[in-house]
Amino acid sequence: EMNLSTELEKERKRVNETLDRLVSDCGNVESRLKEAISYTLNAPGKRIRAIVALWCCRAVNGDINRDGDIAAGVIEMVHTYSLIHDDLPAMDDDNMRRGMPSCHIAFDEATAILTGDALLTFAFAVLAEKISRGELAVEMIKRLCYAAGHGGMISGQMADIRAQNTKAGEELLKYIHINKTAKMFECAAVCGALAGGADQRQLECLSEYGLKLGLAFQIADDILDIHGSAEQLGKTPGKDRETDKLTYPAIFGVEKSKQLEKELAEQAIEVLSDFGEQADMLRQLVLLLLERTG
Ligand code: IPE
Ligand code: IPE
Ligand code: MG
Ligand code: MG
Ligand code: MG
Repeated sequence: EMNLSTELEKERKRVNETLDRLVSDCGNVESRLKEAISYTLNAPGKRIRAIVALWCCRAVNGDINRDGDIAAGVIEMVHTYSLIHDDLPAMDDDNMRRGMPSCHIAFDEATAILTGDALLTFAFAVLAEKISRGELAVEMIKRLCYAAGHGGMISGQMADIRAQNTKAGEELLKYIHINKTAKMFECAAVCGALAGGADQRQLECLSEYGLKLGLAFQIADDILDIHGSAEQLGKTPGKDRETDKLTYPAIFGVEKSKQLEKELAEQAIEVLSDFGEQADMLRQLVLLLLERTG
């Protein structure tokens, strides 16, 4: 019987060690850039996407291998970059992130832009250099390009900005949340599964798991923006209403949003039905995210 919060803590440490290792042998980096990279990567993020990658690797392989660790670290780098840019004055203009001043506050805007750029490109270098087989590396690189790029997060972020102060509806809302958030969760699941040597059927199930979990996660984030405190969230609450963002609670209200989140959570657990107890942590993670307060 494994305890979820103990397991999460253990995996967070594992991800942090991978990140430390990757950053410490990244060669010559300009001193301020290096400082800002460490500042943002060392901030206490939940590491949820990275842990999804680790646990998908374990679900197909029974264990976490080296490629799984690399995939997890890379996903966290790209996610961290996305937060740095998301917080910039030209985007969401948020001063607090992970309980600390946002990168552009702790440093300055130019440094924050460049730190994001560096983390994003660094992530692909790591995949190209450190994944055990070339073919596997190319597959992960391709998946991450689409999920993080024009086929996913960037389109989602673009639509998120454009939807502000409009009376856009349900369809655009779903497009935004799937693209800006769910596709990175899907990519984390798929890269973890690929690292573990998943077959086609397993890949499809875990891809679906990531997508459902990711959408539920963003709905929860929207709800927490209304009800959470700065201490719990490590970021400024109330920003979505203040900036008239298109969110689930804005369209459906909090109760209906919670209902939708619950349905997605059930579906995420359902798609794991082919997996045995090796996927238990993935199942428990869904339930945890439903109850999260930060
Ligand atoms: C924040 O993600 C951005 C969203 C897509 C909601 P997290 O809530 O996972 O942020 P960290 O990594 O724990 O700081
Ligand atoms: C962030 O969504 C999505 C990405 C960073 C891609 P939000 O803008 O809702 O995230 P928070 O609330 O600032 O963490
Ligand atoms: Mg945003
Ligand atoms: Mg934001
Ligand atoms: Mg938010």
